[in-house]
Amino acid sequence: MEDLFGGAAPYYVKYRAGHGDPAIEHLAMTFGPDATVLDLGCGPGTVAIPLARRVREVLAVDPDEEMLAEGRRLAAKAGNIRWLRGDSTTLADLPPFQHVVMGRSFHWMDRRAVLAQLDELLPPYGVVALIGPSREPVEEAWEPAMRRVRDEFGVSTFTATNSYQATGEHHDDVLATSPFSVLDAARYRERRTYDLDDVLGLQLSYSYTAPARLGDRLGAFTEAARKALLALNPAGTWEQMTVTEVLTARRPDTR
Ligand SMILES: C[S@@+](CC[C@H](N)C(=O)[O-])C[C@H]1O[C@@H](n2cnc3c(N)ncnc32)[C@H](O)[C@@H]1O
Repeated sequence: MEDLFGGAAPYYVKYRAGHGDPAIEHLAMTFGPDATVLDLGCGPGTVAIPLARRVREVLAVDPDEEMLAEGRRLAAKAGNIRWLRGDSTTLADLPPFQHVVMGRSFHWMDRRAVLAQLDELLPPYGVVALIGPSREPVEEAWEPAMRRVRDEFGVSTFTATNSYQATGEHHDDVLATSPFSVLDAARYRERRTYDLDDVLGLQLSYSYTAPARLGDRLGAFTEAARKALLALNPAGTWEQMTVTEVLTARRPDTR
């Protein structure tokens, strides 16, 4: 498996926003208090940690050991999260689970293969839930400046085989033609304020500009980004609206 997020985990924890309480509450209500839920591509536990307070158990699975280490550290007190190294190709090795959530991670996977395997592993009432930016994400105010800097450093694209980036097919279209074809979407809006350090830190939490990918150009990238951002907005603070979508998918005969 490619090292997509090398060195990004501490930046992820510090600078990537969570999904917000209402979206987590939506998931908890969907799964129910007795559920064992697989959080696939859990990262540092952005979904697993708040969700574990509302369900029986969470299997938090990720291929990135640094992400899992951050999750274990942050969730030291949570006794009902199992942090497991694995990925979308090793689902059959996991202990049993009833539902699956993927937070900003499904786009990295061979999505049809994952759904076919989940069809074998989930009980009839099992739900596949996605949580993350909506299908039409709001472009961040700093994005035009950052796009130019990424182009300058030749790190604009990062494509995992069969992923969303590779095929361009939207998640809801993939789900609608899968065994989990009954879809329901809810959206949650939130306005946040970012300062310059927030925006710079956020860049290092992304796969395409993760520290391992930038290597010894990390300092130069950060400096170029700082200059470009301040040229765009000398005040160095940004108000940004985010839209989080919770998309749930069930099999047709279990509605
Ligand atoms: C953007 S982070 C999402 C973290 C967290 N779930 C959230 O909602 O913020 C994407 C995570 O997906 C993981 N990932 C990438 N490819 C994967 C795969 N094929 N199977 C499972 N997880 C994968 C990465 O290691 C990374 O931790």
